[in-house]
Amino acid sequence: MSSTKVDILLLGSGGREHALLAKLAESPRAGRLFVAPGNGGMDVMAEPVDLDVESPVEVARWAREMGIGLVVIGPEAPLVAGVADAVRSAGIACFGPNGDAAQMEGSKKFAKQVMARAGVPTAAYRSFTDEEACAAYVRQVGAPIVIKADGLAAGKGVIVASTLDEALSGVRECFSGAFGEAGATVVVEETLEGPECSLLALTDGTTVVPLATAQDHKRALDGDLGPNTGGMGVYSPVPSHLVSDEALAAMVEIERRVVSELASEGITYSGCLYGGFMLTEEGPKVLEFNARFGDPETQVVLPRMKADLVEVFLACDAGTLDPESISWDDDWAVSVVLTSAGYPGHYEKGKVITGIDRAEELDGVTVYHAGTAVAADGSLVTAGGRVLDVTAVAPTFEEARARAYQACELIDFDGKTYRSDIGLRAIR
Ligand code: AMP
Ligand code: GLY
Repeated sequence: MSSTKVDILLLGSGGREHALLAKLAESPRAGRLFVAPGNGGMDVMAEPVDLDVESPVEVARWAREMGIGLVVIGPEAPLVAGVADAVRSAGIACFGPNGDAAQMEGSKKFAKQVMARAGVPTAAYRSFTDEEACAAYVRQVGAPIVIKADGLAAGKGVIVASTLDEALSGVRECFSGAFGEAGATVVVEETLEGPECSLLALTDGTTVVPLATAQDHKRALDGDLGPNTGGMGVYSPVPSHLVSDEALAAMVEIERRVVSELASEGITYSGCLYGGFMLTEEGPKVLEFNARFGDPETQVVLPRMKADLVEVFLACDAGTLDPESISWDDDWAVSVVLTSAGYPGHYEKGKVITGIDRAEELDGVTVYHAGTAVAADGSLVTAGGRVLDVTAVAPTFEEARARAYQACELIDFDGKTYRSDIGLRAIR
């Protein structure tokens, strides 16, 4: 194992990237840290860089000029744009899959085809490029039914329709160009039922190392009501009354099969493979794959992980990932997302945030920044819909949950909004 320091460029600006940065910074191998574009919390830990993160040429050129030894890609858009390919071609180690492998997230149709070839259980589906044919099929099958724009739509291109009217307006919305190019192909799938569970896995293209399970809360309001969001809260691990050992083993096996199917097709998947699962009565079925760490899942998975993240990421790139290099704390982690009033619809920005220091004085509490910025006068202000991920780690689930909510009350900004029921399902 080398002991030389590695300068790192991290791409992204969310709570996921803040959690990645915090873990990377703990590594004895971390040299200078740069972040593009970063946020109000990351900019004090790493030097912000003004780069077009979706431009493969620009990112690779800057990284080469600066002598960067590792580029870590947080969000999906740069992955799908081929930033990892360009960085690797420049001879620089990269965490995140190349563009061909990132199609597991970039195209739902591609992912479905890989799943079919790998024999992985997922919702039955059909894909359409013609609106009339799509609408006719939806009328024939009826509701409930799920309509998905094929490409990247920042989490918005999925309509879980409980009525035929909703389904047909979803079809119209996708084909109307509401999701841009993402909606040119539309996937229609059967509705699956059960609790959801996310399983992130690290892989170097051959070896697959599952990380801890996590459960996201996607709906905006308590009781899983309201519209889907980027995630309102999360906890880890998911207890065995929700995910049996058998179900967990099935999820791990599914991720292994996908990586090995891609490899057999000449596609090396190197990075984090995020499986979103529905735990149905027939066992876990795949809802989606993402080609990156989950947000907010990362904010509860990484704090419990015992590993040198720089070493692990370099090993993913080099094809030398060792399962023994990762172990886990027995603790529980709960993260509550503080949002701006109105999110995921219209919300205001620029509200002054106070109380983070007091919140972080609580035992086991870390506040990851998402939509925050430092204003011209030096104050920390809101700059997005999801503002902060208030995370607590403790020996019991109940303590972690209580601590996270206690911390939420100490933080203040105009329009602060959060769900009060994060993790209740984990309590039997
Ligand atoms: P996706 O981006 O594909 O994971 O979809 C976002 C959310 O929509 C998921 O987390 C589920 O809550 C819901 N969803 C997606 N596909 C289905 C399905 N086939 N059946 C039921 N709910 C679904
Ligand atoms: N937690 C959902 C996602 O990262 O896509």
